Amino acid sequence: MRQTWIGTSWKMTKTLAESSSFARGLAARAHQDGWAGVQPFVIPPSTSLRLVADVLDGSGVLVGAQNAHWEDEGAWTGEVSVPLVVDAGARLVEIGHSERRTHFGETDETVRLKVSAALRHGCIPLLCVGEPEEVFARGGSTAFVLAQVEAAMRGLGPDEQRRVIVAYEPVWAIGEHGRAARPEDVSGVFEQLAAEFGSRVRALLYGGSVDAGNAARTLEVPHVHGLFVGRAAWTLPGFLKILDIAVSHGATCGST
Ligand code: PGA
Repeated sequence: MRQTWIGTSWKMTKTLAESSSFARGLAARAHQDGWAGVQPFVIPPSTSLRLVADVLDGSGVLVGAQNAHWEDEGAWTGEVSVPLVVDAGARLVEIGHSERRTHFGETDETVRLKVSAALRHGCIPLLCVGEPEEVFARGGSTAFVLAQVEAAMRGLGPDEQRRVIVAYEPVWAIGEHGRAARPEDVSGVFEQLAAEFGSRVRALLYGGSVDAGNAARTLEVPHVHGLFVGRAAWTLPGFLKILDIAVSHGATCGST
């Protein structure tokens, strides 16, 4: 049986003090009893990456970066590279989130370059894909999402592909204006993602308005191996609640 991956990106939130308090609470709980069958991860803003990685060192919680450039170094003002985020403690790099694609002009090509850069430096690429509302409305979700994954993994060998985690996050489900997907909205996409990539990648996650009320039913969608959570996991109790739901889910049924 696969592990269940439960993670949160803090996006552009949390001061050093807030990051520290969250990470310390999470580390305390991890050392107390952990989360059987669940792999937790936290993706802080780059300003608190080092701090959070230090606090969570040895806790079993993976720490990631929200973005990294495809080049290793150079004159790219405002950017951080994969070697820099690795140096700051990241073991995972989030790539291609819809907010990056929408507001910062990320394309399938830059996403592909970033996936390769993450792999080159031993990081797990957390590849985010998802269709906009109008594509969903015309029934084009599956083709759109498969094409994004295919483009991001073009040229990778089987061993590299096996280290990639794919997070399917419909654009219309993300953020405060999003609406949580119902299982029937996304089950077809997961069916096809599993058929095409399920045995080639490390895990398939769902993200977009996940909260404690819908986490269990989302984990029951066939081929969902975990959840990528925003707002509902920005407080420690909120994240712990979803982790506990995943532990109970894992104890009662195996994901395919
Ligand atoms: P949300 O964010 O849970 O706040 O909708 C999810 C995401 O952007 O990954």
